[in-house]
Amino acid sequence: MKDAFGAPQSLLILGGTSEIGLATARRLIARRTRTVYLAGRPSEALDAAAEQLRALGAEAHAVPFDALDPASHEEVLGKLFTEGDIDMVLLAFGVLGDQARDEREPLAAVHVAQVNYTGAVSASLVCATALQQQGHGALVVLSSVAGERARRANFIYGSSKAGLDAFTQGLADALHGTGVHVMIVRPGFVRTRMTAGLDEAPLATTPGAVAAAIELGLRRRSATIWVPGTLRLVMAALRHLPRPLFRRLPV
Ligand SMILES: NC(=O)c1ccc[n+]([C@@H]2O[C@H](COP(=O)([O-])OP(=O)(O)OC[C@H]3O[C@@H](n4cnc5c(N)ncnc54)[C@H](OP(=O)(O)O)[C@@H]3O)[C@@H](O)[C@H]2O)c1
Repeated sequence: MKDAFGAPQSLLILGGTSEIGLATARRLIARRTRTVYLAGRPSEALDAAAEQLRALGAEAHAVPFDALDPASHEEVLGKLFTEGDIDMVLLAFGVLGDQARDEREPLAAVHVAQVNYTGAVSASLVCATALQQQGHGALVVLSSVAGERARRANFIYGSSKAGLDAFTQGLADALHGTGVHVMIVRPGFVRTRMTAGLDEAPLATTPGAVAAAIELGLRRRSATIWVPGTLRLVMAALRHLPRPLFRRLPV
């Protein structure tokens, strides 16, 4: 169960090697979290991440999970909930893709859509049902400001996040009043391996800052958070900018 400050005792991260996911795990372990499931594609990195969390005092388990195999989600994720309550699920998997290549190779674009959108739809529904059966817990979904308005430079990734964001908004409404808290996280540019080598966007931030914002959002039971928070205002303005103007922006 969550404590009076909203800190979960048990955490499931979908995308167990995600830098943002692991920064969140470290932050929550420093508060109260004791059990962490890192669900991801089996790899040395996934095992090493679990080992690092164990060194911080958590009981951490690596669990095989592939977003691209939705037929397995019910069994793989549903089983975890039968082993004990899970107070928080963090949906942290995703791929950025390569916009230029993905425009040339439709199957590569479909891969981005399948990981970021359909994989997330399936995994979220399985977890949402289990959380609802528990009657408590939080589902925290890493969306992106890229989904708030499609940009020429990354509309394939952006559209997958727009779909995920809209889906999560609806899911939050569906779960309203059930005791399950759904929170959408919209970070801007975060310095992780996903963005390594790319030109930094204005207001770039860190996985640690996203983790801190997630912790605060949990405590406040926020529906949506932007990281950094100023992006909320920036995106409100950008969303309504006429397209001929938006198109000319160097974003
Ligand atoms: N970094 C940013 O600027 C930024 C901004 C806004 C939103 N976000 C979102 O935040 C989330 C975390 O990003 P991050 O920066 O922490 O990136 P990251 O460190 O690259 O993590 C991405 C995660 O997705 C996992 N993944 C990829 N394909 C998968 C699949 N088929 N099945 C299961 N897991 C899969 C990766 O696992 P493997 O180890 O197996 O590859 C990894 O754990 C993503 O959803 C991303 O879109 C990131």
